[in-house]
Amino acid sequence: MSKHSFPVLKNDCLLRAARGLRTERVPVWIMRQAGRYLPEFRKVREEHSFFEICRTPALACEITLQPIRRYALDAAIIFSDILVIPQALGMQVEMKPSIGPHFPEPLSEPKDVEKLKKGCIDEELSYVYEAITLTRHELDGLVPLIGFTGAPWTLMCYMIEGGSSKTLSKAKSWLYKWPEESHNLLHLLKDAVISHLVNQIKAGAQLVQIFESNAEYLTPDLLKKFSLPYLKEIQRSVSSTITNLGLEMVPMILYAKGSAMVLDFIADMGYDVLGVDWTVAPSVARSKFSEGICLQGNLDPPALKADHETIKRLVIDMLQGFGTQSYIANLGHGIYPDIPPDNVAFFVNTIHEESEKMIKAL
Ligand code: CP3
Repeated sequence: MSKHSFPVLKNDCLLRAARGLRTERVPVWIMRQAGRYLPEFRKVREEHSFFEICRTPALACEITLQPIRRYALDAAIIFSDILVIPQALGMQVEMKPSIGPHFPEPLSEPKDVEKLKKGCIDEELSYVYEAITLTRHELDGLVPLIGFTGAPWTLMCYMIEGGSSKTLSKAKSWLYKWPEESHNLLHLLKDAVISHLVNQIKAGAQLVQIFESNAEYLTPDLLKKFSLPYLKEIQRSVSSTITNLGLEMVPMILYAKGSAMVLDFIADMGYDVLGVDWTVAPSVARSKFSEGICLQGNLDPPALKADHETIKRLVIDMLQGFGTQSYIANLGHGIYPDIPPDNVAFFVNTIHEESEKMIKAL
């Protein structure tokens, strides 16, 4: 429960799955469910820049609701971006059409870290928290609302590379050349991430997801040094802060891309839900974890371009592999802009129908 008073939740299926409680069907949401594959999103984007939408609570709320109006999704995710944290720390970030994020002045050496602002998250990102509170009211309890953040390592990559990169050569070389200074930067980012998550929960987020999308670029050794300790501390610090405030702790989802390598390492970090990408077969992922841990994933996004018969077969394989309890259906990463919207409806409905049949037959 947050500090606000909100409408009663009518569909708590996804929250129950996240907590390892029984569900009568498998809940489903889609990473990047509000986005360019939806014509109604592209229409709003014709009139407003990406970060203008993020910074205007009424627009962020409207875009968050677009996929909820179209599909029987079991959760909404607040419209925002992981790069609002670097912006809050004082960096300039632009979103370039068909290229993606661009930082005109990325961090090029450790002394650049000194320029970053500290302790400014509450104020700088107040628009995110207003958007969350507004969206909770507008949802009227239809489905729970997910808040999110990037993890320190993934944020560090964008701040050094200045945008997306195929190799992360610059960001990774910091870890080898300047390990101590890299830790200083990761430490600063970790504090920002903790504040951002706590604030989102206080504003009304009913689950939170952390995106460590660049975990897959690390060696196991670098992962253990520069990613996992921060992820662990974020989980511990957010849950103790929320509990000390007298609020109810919400489930935390960790999505670390590169499941074939990272899944074993993230098992006992305290997260309620672990995201899985397409590099691990559902049955293999399930066999690694006890019943208590909820798994989320992992349809390969371009599979949504296949015909309905193929999508249905893949959905059934996924449900059989993950099982129908302690499981949240999703893609293995964000949806692509060229996915036909009708196939998303088919995917969502097939998850519900097939899982309901399987649970009834048990
Ligand atoms: O899931 C949702 O519907 C909520 C919104 C959301 C966005 N970005 C909106 C967005 C979420 C959860 C994100 C997370 C995000 N942002 C991640 C982690 C997830 C992942 O994909 O690994 C990352 C790495 C970013 C940074 C970012 N933002 C990139 C690399 C890009 C360009 C690539 C792309 O997909 O367009 C963005 C832009 C972005 N973020 C768009 C949307 C809808 C498209 C921008 C546009 O409209 O021009």
